[in-house]
Amino acid sequence: MRLLQKFRCALVLSLGLHCVAADSIISQDIPEDLNGSNFTYPWPVKLFQFTTQKAQSLEMAFMDVAPTSSPNGKTAILLHGRNFCSSTWNATAIVLAEAGYRVILPDQIGFCKSSKLDYYQFSLQQLASNTYRLLAAIGISQATVIGHSMGGMMATRYALMYPANVTDLVLTNPIGLEDWKALGVPWIETDKSWATEKASTYTSLRAYQQATYYVGSWDPSYDVWINMSVNIYHGSQADKFTWNQALAIDMVLTQPVVYEFPLLKTNTLLLIGAKDNTAIGKAWSPPEVQAKLGHYDVLGPQVAAAIPGSTLVMFPDLGHAPQISAPDRYHAALLEWLNRST
Ligand SMILES: *[C@@H]1O[C@H](CO)[C@@H](O)[C@H](O)[C@H]1NC(C)=O
Ligand SMILES: *[C@@H]1O[C@H](CO)[C@@H](O)[C@H](O)[C@H]1NC(C)=O
Ligand SMILES: *[C@@H]1O[C@H](CO)[C@@H](O)[C@H](O)[C@H]1NC(C)=O
Ligand SMILES: *[C@@H]1O[C@H](CO)[C@@H](O)[C@H](O)[C@H]1NC(C)=O
Ligand SMILES: *[C@@H]1O[C@H](CO)[C@@H](O)[C@H](O)[C@H]1NC(C)=O
Repeated sequence: MRLLQKFRCALVLSLGLHCVAADSIISQDIPEDLNGSNFTYPWPVKLFQFTTQKAQSLEMAFMDVAPTSSPNGKTAILLHGRNFCSSTWNATAIVLAEAGYRVILPDQIGFCKSSKLDYYQFSLQQLASNTYRLLAAIGISQATVIGHSMGGMMATRYALMYPANVTDLVLTNPIGLEDWKALGVPWIETDKSWATEKASTYTSLRAYQQATYYVGSWDPSYDVWINMSVNIYHGSQADKFTWNQALAIDMVLTQPVVYEFPLLKTNTLLLIGAKDNTAIGKAWSPPEVQAKLGHYDVLGPQVAAAIPGSTLVMFPDLGHAPQISAPDRYHAALLEWLNRST
């Protein structure tokens, strides 16, 4: 049974009654093939239904995992990167649930099993606000916010916007540790990056992830994440999805967070694979600009020094996705910090 749609109405001056749907959660009859992603998630998928930007009705897909040991009273939210989905956090969600956390795993608007749109003003603030409203709708006022890659950049924005609602902040190889455009990356038309996105294949996605995520090596278990992406790139919403990816690239290129790291007021852990070389726009930059970008071995310590009171854990041999390439080491470092005595 679908939750009865709730409406928020206002009597407007013309004496007409103006109603917009209030934020609500749908938890029944969710199809497997959802908004262009036909990939099985490890826990039941729910939909957060809300309106933004000219009262467009949108759905954010998310999973809500209960603690599997005695609850510690805390909630963790896991924010995915641009090439991943919430489901890619499955191993980390299991570890956190075993440590007593309730774990929330959302797909952002434009991504994975959430709504794809022809017209949407993508901003890190908008995605953070959507996520904050999701948490509010399920009654969570405080969360440990854990982000990877684009999700780490968004987690930073989230913590800047809602410092009172972030218990701990964990950034895993976040992007946005430098301002690529200030370092010389030229802006490109979204139509141009859209064309690149539309041309994505298993081979191109794997080649990129092998080089940046896994330091050139490959394990057959990584395949499933490539296939999860390929399924969306070639799925029923491919046109809108690839367009939204192009808008997301524009978003991260034009909306730096690096200048605001000193303003963070949250307890922060940085988990950095030092062999990561991710940099937005590197692919279309001249060689002398490329050479300056994506040096995570330098960026990790530099950003840790900029964030007041932060803790840095470097993995010298790992790339962009330490939680996937070395889950045991990653989770040990994560839990050690989360369990620290404060
Ligand atoms: C979704 O995947 C299932 C197999 O997992 C398949 O049976 C079904 O046809 C797929 N649906 C679409 C629309 O591709
Ligand atoms: C996470 O999900 C992937 C894809 O379904 C699966 O291959 C992997 O075994 C899962 N990992 C854990 C720890 O459950
Ligand atoms: C996303 O999927 C839900 C559930 O099937 C559907 O109600 C909604 O219309 C879809 N959203 C878009 C933008 O297609
Ligand atoms: C965020 O924290 C503030 C301060 O504690 C609180 O007033 C507010 O209700 C919280 N937000 C949500 C959505 O619970
Ligand atoms: C992923 O897709 C590739 C290419 O289509 C295929 O060879 C491989 O078996 C798939 N792997 C998984 C784990 O689904």
